[in-house]
Amino acid sequence: MNILVLNGSPRPQGNTVKMVAAFRESAEKAGHIVNIVNVCRKNIKGCLACEYCHGKGQGQCVQKDDMQEVYGYLRDTDMLILASPIYYHGISGQLKCTIDRFYSALYPTAPVSLTKTAMFLSSGDPEMYEGAKFSYEGDFLGYLGLENMGMFTCAGDVKESVLEEIRKMAASL
Ligand SMILES: Cc1cc2nc3c(=O)[nH]c(=O)nc-3n(C[C@H](O)[C@H](O)[C@H](O)COP(=O)(O)O)c2cc1C
Repeated sequence: MNILVLNGSPRPQGNTVKMVAAFRESAEKAGHIVNIVNVCRKNIKGCLACEYCHGKGQGQCVQKDDMQEVYGYLRDTDMLILASPIYYHGISGQLKCTIDRFYSALYPTAPVSLTKTAMFLSSGDPEMYEGAKFSYEGDFLGYLGLENMGMFTCAGDVKESVLEEIRKMAASL
């Protein structure tokens, strides 16, 4: 399987990155191809709502920034993982900009290969996931109809038990 991970944390040694690393190790061991895009290190602008993609652009976004790399992966990915710290009750702004740009590639229809998804979230306090969960369930499970492979959360320093759950999920794919 081709798996695209969008990492929305700017912290190279942070909790989100540790969850992503655990996933990668286990998924690669199981024979999957894991592509990680650290969106905070990229130049990805917000959607302009110009509708070029749904008209003259025929599915192409008018903005030629680093989102082109993400579009390349999205075309033939089987699974999408959204990984982010919680900032003000939602995902990070950098990941939100990336998701908004899915408008050209995943709306009104998504690539046929894309069938599975999962979410990794890291927060300071527990029970801070409702905002991110709402959009994950509404947009990715509900609207796109992707199969939910789990929402994995850690409050504070990520525990080994959470990393182990992630490894198990990756090994089961
Ligand atoms: C701008 C900003 C906003 C934050 N907002 C919240 C919040 O609303 N709720 C919360 O529990 N933690 C909040 N945090 C804390 C982070 O979610 C937490 O430190 C998380 O573990 C960081 O993930 P990382 O280690 O993967 O970067 C915020 C941190 C930052 C920098």
